[in-house]
Amino acid sequence: MTRFEGEIIVNREISPAWNLLGFAWPPGKAPPLPGQFFTFLPRGVEYGESALLRRPLAFAWHDGSRAYSIFQAKGPGTKSLARRRVGESIDVIAPLGNSFPDPDSGERSVLAGGGIGIGPMLFLAARLKEAGRDFTLHLGFRTKSQVPEIGLDALDREVSRAKLATDDGSLGFQGTVIQAVARDKDESCADAHLFACGPKPMLAAAAALADEWNAQAHVSVEQWMACGVGACNGCVVPAADGGYLRACADGPVFSSRDLSWEQ
Ligand code: FES
Repeated sequence: MTRFEGEIIVNREISPAWNLLGFAWPPGKAPPLPGQFFTFLPRGVEYGESALLRRPLAFAWHDGSRAYSIFQAKGPGTKSLARRRVGESIDVIAPLGNSFPDPDSGERSVLAGGGIGIGPMLFLAARLKEAGRDFTLHLGFRTKSQVPEIGLDALDREVSRAKLATDDGSLGFQGTVIQAVARDKDESCADAHLFACGPKPMLAAAAALADEWNAQAHVSVEQWMACGVGACNGCVVPAADGGYLRACADGPVFSSRDLSWEQ
């Protein structure tokens, strides 16, 4: 991991739900992998709005010299980030956390992204595509208007060939993204390897589906974080063995069977 000031090269709305942030990546630094995240230091935030706390964001792409994230401007920190202009810099610590494992040969990768979890899933899909691996990508949205136009060829290509689900049925399958995966009969077998990122109920459904299929699943959890580097225990998630795991340092990617889904 390293801390640096990255020049912002893009920061704009890509759907009514999400923004795309891109910033320069330091030459010679190890690039981020799908599943990893960074923290940024908000600017222009009042003290009472936790101005000193860094905020985590997942990587959505890296093209060699620039890193990208898809984020939601919903709290003081991310709203302040949405106001930053191209040419300004952002205080970044990255890359943080672990990444999605490579699927074994013979496994059929099934990727599912819901809500803000679309960023890491598009990143993983684009990397699997580059590696010549077969996979199916499912993306879930509340409604059709949320489907983003990202403006990055590698990611827009994956959006255009993904199987889409919307809660209101305005585009693709009507229902949740995991219901769409479960309905896709071609995939329901034990040689599938499920990769999922999204809100907790979605990940719990993915874990249950993997158990039903007797298949592997790896999920990337979304969790509030303070330090982002394993020092504060502010990001723990319940483990299957009764203890706790730190989302930032032990994850954010876990085997679904390492986590407890009952709390
Ligand atoms: Fe501090 Fe994870 S955010 S330990």
